[in-house]
Amino acid sequence: MLLTPDSSDLTLVTMPVAEIATDLLLLPVFDGESLDDIPGLDERAGGHISAAMTSGEFQARPFEVYLTPLTGWKSARVGLVGAGQRTEFTTERLRRVATAAALAARQRRVTRIAWLVRGDLPPAAAVQASVEGLGLASFSIDRYKSGERGGPPVAEIIIAMPGVASPDLTPAFERGRVLADSCNVARELCNEPPNVLTPRELGERAAAVGRDAGFTVEILDEKELEQRGMGLLLGVGQGSAQPPRMIVLKHTPKGKAASPHVLGLIGKGVTFDTGGISIKPADGMERMKTDMSGAAAVIGAMRAIALLDAPMQVIGVIPAAENMPGGRAIKPADVLTGAGGKTVEVINTDAEGRLILGDGLWYAKELGATHLVDVATLTGAIVIALGRVASGLFGQPSPWVDTVKRSAEVAGDRCWSMPLYDEYADQLKSEIADMINSGGRPAGACTAAMFLKEFAGGLPWAHIDIAGTAWAEESKPWQPKGPTGVAVRTLAELAFTSQSWNPGPQSGSKQ
Ligand code: BES
Ligand code: MN
Ligand code: ZN
Repeated sequence: MLLTPDSSDLTLVTMPVAEIATDLLLLPVFDGESLDDIPGLDERAGGHISAAMTSGEFQARPFEVYLTPLTGWKSARVGLVGAGQRTEFTTERLRRVATAAALAARQRRVTRIAWLVRGDLPPAAAVQASVEGLGLASFSIDRYKSGERGGPPVAEIIIAMPGVASPDLTPAFERGRVLADSCNVARELCNEPPNVLTPRELGERAAAVGRDAGFTVEILDEKELEQRGMGLLLGVGQGSAQPPRMIVLKHTPKGKAASPHVLGLIGKGVTFDTGGISIKPADGMERMKTDMSGAAAVIGAMRAIALLDAPMQVIGVIPAAENMPGGRAIKPADVLTGAGGKTVEVINTDAEGRLILGDGLWYAKELGATHLVDVATLTGAIVIALGRVASGLFGQPSPWVDTVKRSAEVAGDRCWSMPLYDEYADQLKSEIADMINSGGRPAGACTAAMFLKEFAGGLPWAHIDIAGTAWAEESKPWQPKGPTGVAVRTLAELAFTSQSWNPGPQSGSKQ
């Protein structure tokens, strides 16, 4: 089993480019620039670089790659990687361009590369984004293949920042490496087949990552779920031969916590979603192995939070279940009772994520969390609303949601704010229970979020719907087809921002 991904050997150097010994020296190139800041490069490339720029063979469009041999320098070849307009160069663009560069090297079976950090970003931010991007490219989707495909991961990566003092950059470098590896841990989990990754196994994996990274993991089995009255999680799990679990991950800072707040991260851990009795169509159902991507994001984030020793307490809560039709499965019209006492009339067994998250959110508050964020592949409706380009962000109060949004921006996980109008609650009214679990098709992602809000106990709460972003259905230069590791970096980033949080409306709230 993979705990730490087979991440490449990364080093940070500040020597002149001519002295970097590697097989392929890669560098981002901006639109319209002539590379004068790297004296001798064009000459060492026999004039091919200026020729390619003049002829238009290389135009520096984002992710375009041009390779040519070098003579007289310690690098055998140079690769120009298009980075677009210099004025539009952000950490997000840099991260993606670096991934594209390393993936291009990998496709060509080049295993030793150097990446020259260029552009106008602050050096530490540029180093961190570069390391993240390059590290993300070392992920492999082929562990169940007996042959090898996609090229071996690049084994040796040099990050070059000639002339910049390296001690200042070391923390940024380490941070980038931990974040990339933690994303890859999450991606690995999403990729696992559902016969391997059952709720029990998900707990084992979380425990193994915890042992490695230094956070604690406690797992509630079905008897303990029963004792705590977690009827929503038990209900979803009861149609399966694989029993459900509640997995609890805890990070305590090594020194004194810098903040009285406790961050609660809740991840949807449906290890396979058939829909249950409200069964899904066969076509495409295999993708529902990724319905634990929220859980994977929480495990990946906790890994980074522990390794980087975030200065606040963080509790991860993962309700894990397999949603199956079976003789014991819940039926439309069943009424379940959550651990906090709320009753839910299940009208669609395929709206299972919100049920298990209901118990998860409640439990995070019970364990002492003061601020909540849940991450879930919750609705097909968010894919209709935002496509595969951004996750949907919901929550309240708005300063808390804005804090989460800012962390997402820094992390390069795109989120778009979605509304939670009171009227959406009308779609969840039940004749016999507190709520029904599906508001039907109109505003499906919003009514799902509205359902979750009822379980946040009045705490500041944000919900990230990653149904469209957890798995790339098409390969892009910076992102191969497959699991993306979305939200790992957002959640990790958030655990470093607690000094600026306000307490939310707590006492006096109706919930
Ligand atoms: N796991 C699905 C949502 C999903 C859809 C994830 C596409 C990834 C890609 C969720 O459990 C689900 O089935 N949601 C239903 C809710 C409906 C029954 C109210 C949906 O979106 O159709
Ligand atoms: Mn479902
Ligand atoms: Zn689901």
